[in-house]
Amino acid sequence: MKKIPGNTDYPKLIIGDRELSFPFILGPMGVGVSLSRLVAAFANEGGAGILSVVCLREIWSQRLKKKVSTYEAVTKEIATARALSPEGVIGLNVMVAVQQDYADSIRAAVEGQIDFISIGAGLIRDLPKINHPHKTAIAVIVSSAKAANIVLYRWEKNKWRDLGYELAAFIVEGPLAGGHLGFTIDQVTKPEFQVEVILPEVKKIAQANGNIPVIAAGGIYDRADISRMRALGADGVQMATRFLATEESDASLNYKLAIVRTTKPEDIIVSPGSPCGLPFRVVVSAPMYQTHLRAGREPRCNKGYLLRKDADGKFTICSAKTDNQNFFCICNGLLASAGYNPQEEDLYTAGANAYRVTEISTVKKIMDELKGLT
Ligand SMILES: Cc1cc2nc3c(=O)[nH]c(=O)nc-3n(C[C@H](O)[C@H](O)[C@H](O)COP(=O)(O)O)c2cc1C
Repeated sequence: MKKIPGNTDYPKLIIGDRELSFPFILGPMGVGVSLSRLVAAFANEGGAGILSVVCLREIWSQRLKKKVSTYEAVTKEIATARALSPEGVIGLNVMVAVQQDYADSIRAAVEGQIDFISIGAGLIRDLPKINHPHKTAIAVIVSSAKAANIVLYRWEKNKWRDLGYELAAFIVEGPLAGGHLGFTIDQVTKPEFQVEVILPEVKKIAQANGNIPVIAAGGIYDRADISRMRALGADGVQMATRFLATEESDASLNYKLAIVRTTKPEDIIVSPGSPCGLPFRVVVSAPMYQTHLRAGREPRCNKGYLLRKDADGKFTICSAKTDNQNFFCICNGLLASAGYNPQEEDLYTAGANAYRVTEISTVKKIMDELKGLT
């Protein structure tokens, strides 16, 4: 495959067998924010775009007006992105917490010859046995040095290399990120859990284990942030919030406007209310969050993507089904915010830096700034 022209100010970043023209990765944004349009626009600028897998089955079933499987939906989304960016680097994110789609999404990505798969929202536990047409690069999201060591241990113990997978990168995500966070609520503001501290620790481990590339994520917004991360050992950076309110973003207009109208750091908070048990960053103005604060929504769950384990170790429990004081209905809310659930209210997530977004911009404009062209 041809490479999109880059610039020499940045060191090269290789993920699997693809070299990025710029060491920038578009973080996956579910539900329905980083889909093929945004991902392809980012990849066409020389970074690597990551498609979100969350609720793709629901999204494609509605688009095609017939029920499709997760495998079909993921296959279609990858093919659409590839058609929009034939030469760009494209990844797919799968979430450990969304167990029901996990193996099928990976199978569709492998068979669709995705450039790499990023795995997060829980620490990688297994990888399905699949007949690989070529080696599949896996980037694992971690939030501590301990997690990176566990990944390396599991990688060896389970002989995932023999199954055709390659550990291609660690994505070190700090607590300023959007979506679910790999920390307890108490840890989020503590200095020792910030990306500036965990990044060099993971880098040391990555260097000692074959120089695995390390990508920094969470709160990276401008060139100064990128330089800071590079000085701390990052081989690349992953950004999401900065691109949420772009013209190419697959988020709804209401979602983008909510981000632009978020002007103070306190407008974005970390909430314990996600049914899967992980802290989740929320834009306070989001209609479903406001209703949640008033316990104004009947507890119910008709989606159940994000479940917790029951006593038998099976993923069956949705806390939002029984308790609307402490948990909110994240699957329905995020699907509504993507425009695929009109009967429910919108729920918006964003990184801590969302208040810095002041306009609906374009991917090219932001990328030119990050590349140092403007
Ligand atoms: C709207 C939104 C949705 C997200 N959804 C996911 C997701 O589905 N899977 C995932 O691994 N990370 C998800 N994240 C985390 C991002 O991919 C990224 O790592 C993180 O937000 C980076 O921090 P930044 O937003 O400050 O740039 C999401 C972030 C946002 C803002």
